[in-house]
Amino acid sequence: INHKVGFVFQKLSFSVMSRIKEAKKSAAYLAVDKHVKSGDLVGIGSGSTVIFAVERLAARVKKEKLDIKCVPTSFQARDLVIQNKLTLTNLEVCPELDVCIDGADEVDENLDLIKGGGGCLLQEKIVASCSKKLVIVADYTKDSKRLGDQYKKGIPIEVAPMAYVPIKNRIEKIYGGNAELRMAVAKAGPVVTDNGNFILDWREYKQDSDWGKINTELVLIPGVVETGLFVKMAEVAYFGMEDGSVKNR
Ligand code: 5RP
Repeated sequence: INHKVGFVFQKLSFSVMSRIKEAKKSAAYLAVDKHVKSGDLVGIGSGSTVIFAVERLAARVKKEKLDIKCVPTSFQARDLVIQNKLTLTNLEVCPELDVCIDGADEVDENLDLIKGGGGCLLQEKIVASCSKKLVIVADYTKDSKRLGDQYKKGIPIEVAPMAYVPIKNRIEKIYGGNAELRMAVAKAGPVVTDNGNFILDWREYKQDSDWGKINTELVLIPGVVETGLFVKMAEVAYFGMEDGSVKNR
């Protein structure tokens, strides 16, 4: 019986996974079609949903001869741009971008975001801040009323390695909750970001907090490099829904 239950469970989770994957794809395709035009300088976010956005960009470059240049937000994004034969550039050459397409871990009613599940928050925030608009692509599980309702892994905070203990203590003392050092698979050591830093995942904070204020306070702590709180940055978010439709906010 256990074997049978396991099999049914496996099938069920497989179908949920493939529904989420389809949702990511439809959101990413629609956002690219609506927001990217020829001549644009495009910020390329990170994560699994962005893979579909890059796939769509590559198809449009081929089909429509779309002329775009891309600034990546991570090693993963850079690799995606190269693999899909898109034109790679950087913020030194192109410091002002037309649009940035990125994923998110949670998007609330005000379009405030938690990002950094993949550890790319610093470059993602920099590239987004250099873009005229930040367009978020996500599946329905990321849609939330208030930050903290959905994403249980906490708010990622990128910190200088030498300072992770004092920063952790300070955050827990001031705001409560736990700020845990993000570990690599099988606890092989701390996750090191593309910028050589560590990440603290801060959980069990108060959900109805003033995130703009907390973000400003956190980045003032010496050693905090950036937070995964993206407050008042996104212009629009596309959510792929369970029924195959795409909702935007
Ligand atoms: C990486 C990010 C990602 O955009 C975020 O984690 C969403 O990823 P996915 O599209 O795989 O759900 O912020 O730092």
